[in-house]
Amino acid sequence: MRLVIASDHAAVTLRMQLVETLRSWGHEVVDLGCEADRRVDYPDYAATACDRVLSGQADRAVLVCGTGIGMSIAANKVAGIRAALVHDVTTAALAAQHNNANVLCLGGRVLGPVTCEQCLEAWLSTEFETRHQHRLDKITAMESSL
Ligand code: RB5
Repeated sequence: MRLVIASDHAAVTLRMQLVETLRSWGHEVVDLGCEADRRVDYPDYAATACDRVLSGQADRAVLVCGTGIGMSIAANKVAGIRAALVHDVTTAALAAQHNNANVLCLGGRVLGPVTCEQCLEAWLSTEFETRHQHRLDKITAMESSL
């Protein structure tokens, strides 16, 4: 899969570890930063990563900040993005199976690297169940009516 990944300053080390893991699993990964030497604003990184997904340059995005909350709030402002903040294998698998999430958000200050890797594995390997599509269609309709 072609993935983009980004983090703010709260999760640089974790992000770098996840990049290596994802590449070792055979994924094509573009790392959008941030650098370790400065504090940044997570909405900037969420916006860039979401653009890559919507433009077709990437299949999915992984966003990491301290809690994952800020990244998920920001990403879900972008029409066409379904960003899921997950904490374990169950929520990560269901984010794919029920929500067809095209962005996964993780909290680097609340989850360890092994849990994050398990979440990624579950999200990337679980198929969307099309019986849920009509609910996603309602979300898409909300994007143009609000
Ligand atoms: C940065 O200090 C922190 O607010 C950010 O990483 C994230 O946790 C926001 O939701």
